[in-house]
Amino acid sequence: MAINKLVIVGIGLIGGSLAAALKKAGACREVIGVARRQVTCDDAVKLGVVDRAYLSIGEVAAELGEGDVVFISVPTLTVEAILKQCQQCLDSAVTITDGASVKGSVLTAAKNAYGELPSQLVLGHPIAGSEKSGVTAANPDLYRDHRIIITPTEETGRDHLQRVTQMWESVDAEVLVMPVAEHDDVLAATSHLPHAIAYSLVDTLAHDAENENIFRYAAGGFRDFTRIASSDPTMWHDIMLANRDSVLKSLDLFTDNLTRMRSAIESGDSEYLLGVFTRAKAARDHFTKMLAKQAYTAPVQDGKTMQENEITYRVSPGGQVNGQIRVPGDKSISHRSIMLGSLAEGVTEVEGFLEGEDALATLQAFRDMGVVIEGPDQGQVRIHGVGLNGLQAPPGPLYVGNSGTSMRLLAGLLAGQSFDTELTGDESLSKRPMNRVANPLREMGAEIETGENGRPPVKIKGGQALKAIDYDMPMASAQVKSCVLLAGMYADGVTKVTEPAPTRDHTERMLNGFGYEVKREGAMAELTSGGSLKASKIEVPADISSATFFMVAAAIAPGSDVTLTHVGINPTRDGVINILRAMGADITLDNQREVGGEPVADIRIRYASLKGIEIPEDQVPLAIDEFPALFVAASCAEGETVLTGAEELRVKESDRIQVMADGLQKLGVKAEPTPDGIVIQGKGSEAGVFGGGEVESHGDHRIAMSFTIAALRGTAEIKINNCANVATSFPTFVDLATGAGITLKVESA
Ligand code: S3P
Repeated sequence: MAINKLVIVGIGLIGGSLAAALKKAGACREVIGVARRQVTCDDAVKLGVVDRAYLSIGEVAAELGEGDVVFISVPTLTVEAILKQCQQCLDSAVTITDGASVKGSVLTAAKNAYGELPSQLVLGHPIAGSEKSGVTAANPDLYRDHRIIITPTEETGRDHLQRVTQMWESVDAEVLVMPVAEHDDVLAATSHLPHAIAYSLVDTLAHDAENENIFRYAAGGFRDFTRIASSDPTMWHDIMLANRDSVLKSLDLFTDNLTRMRSAIESGDSEYLLGVFTRAKAARDHFTKMLAKQAYTAPVQDGKTMQENEITYRVSPGGQVNGQIRVPGDKSISHRSIMLGSLAEGVTEVEGFLEGEDALATLQAFRDMGVVIEGPDQGQVRIHGVGLNGLQAPPGPLYVGNSGTSMRLLAGLLAGQSFDTELTGDESLSKRPMNRVANPLREMGAEIETGENGRPPVKIKGGQALKAIDYDMPMASAQVKSCVLLAGMYADGVTKVTEPAPTRDHTERMLNGFGYEVKREGAMAELTSGGSLKASKIEVPADISSATFFMVAAAIAPGSDVTLTHVGINPTRDGVINILRAMGADITLDNQREVGGEPVADIRIRYASLKGIEIPEDQVPLAIDEFPALFVAASCAEGETVLTGAEELRVKESDRIQVMADGLQKLGVKAEPTPDGIVIQGKGSEAGVFGGGEVESHGDHRIAMSFTIAALRGTAEIKINNCANVATSFPTFVDLATGAGITLKVESA
């Protein structure tokens, strides 16, 4: 039992709910109430919220000692009077805590009452409440899954701190620790300011002399926005005065922004208004997602990411895939459309944009740097370009989640800006190598700091004069090539990048499409600084890397016949078609055309038996993201498949060689990893290639989707753990897979 006796001083919503919750949890022997009015005492006893009640703490003080807790939940400005009473009558072994929304003023109150801070006092604040007040509103579930902020000081006794922590945990609340000043600033912004605004708005409308009946016409917007203005007036009066300085800081900032909005409305400044509204919508949508615990979320503090939502796939064995499928837009092109659109002059319109977490991370980064971006709305995005030198310093580190492309390409662009920036990412991205971009950028004169062993975060110093370089890439990487070319736009002279093998050339094609000339000469791409980008229209083709899962699905599951429409088949991306064809797959390309500078086709693929091959090394960079799925195809082929020259796979979202080998072995396939590839013994026409079992995706989207399609040739259910990141590249995967014929259940913890 966490507590012996609990004394609630002030039996309103906050105190009454704690009493009710502790009783319900059986976490306290007895609850005693203290209230100013007899009627409250009587109500609290009658409602069963407390066991007995008194009009002053003095009446119970004598029976309290170690293991007992006094919880003060009176209006903030009354706390001092209560603490003075405590000082006079309470034993120093009794734990005292409170629930006031302002902690600085309680600290001062305690000093006034005790002279110095007593070790028995633990300041706390439950971030829960409702517009209802009074003991009749007491709710035993009020604190379940809510946060409690505790603001201990040097003087706070360990035992007392532990007791208060246990008390809150026993009612299923989550306890966070924070310094007093930080608490008061954060709460001023997120709670006190909205309350001040809501009260002021309702009061303004209520006193609108011109329209007395105004509330009659008020609908949902008014109701949602002003619900909190019906909270306890004394409590909020006290909070505003008690947290004066922090509240004023927030109010001033808000007032300035409101004034700026007023003048934008007056002068018809659409761009300013769109900027505010689109940024705010994005931020609010992000908050809604956080509340719903969807996908991953941005870091909370200290660059640490919040817990990823655990999503598990359970895929039933067997079946086939059929139909016409349009997979979402190409990820590489979506990233680049935002980057180049933002740096262009004029408004760029994008169709078919991939609304996956990775491309959205890039979009958010540019919003953070002041670019107005409308959408995405069903794949449509409008980017109000600011020109090559129009980006503004972001308010904090740019968090790009799981996206290596965002981090590496942005590093190049940011090296050319006048302001400092920091790029951070999630757990997987934080393990990936960044020196491959930091090194050439340093050669260009950029000042870049990385974390340990060249991992993120990447800190980039602004205002450095960059010089053009002639760079021979040590690895075949489109991200490195793109990074150097993008930095080259800001460098003095002609930047040249030579690649050891052809890699995707979307950056070159798109720069040309935006009117910034990039010349190609064999393996070398070059551009000259001093140019500019002109806004463009972009139609993003469907992503061949996402289409791959359905291509392989059809290739391995007898009876399948799938057509993937409008897929980008850029020759630097078509390795998967070449490799599958070499394995004997039945693939036809129809309706070939060019859309916005990229070749596109409808890809039809029908089941045909596959054979193992030695994958030609020149195909590796052209199919770099497709290997997890191709390993599944190889497992279903007759004979051995050997992959070499693919060490890059070890530094993707996961070590894709090891993680796939582990999973395949678990499912009964002989798959031997080598330093730069894998050797897979295919099972050919055997009905069941994969046994059932549980495999780990290690948060890698492509691993999760590859094992999903493997189940088509499975003998029992395959369970795939940690699939939340499928949303980074293919947010509609589950719907499309199910629609095509895969039996898949999604479980979320
Ligand atoms: C990408 C390049 C490739 C690829 C990634 C996207 C790009 O990475 O794996 O998914 O958009 O430039 P590398 O450059 O590391 O090969």
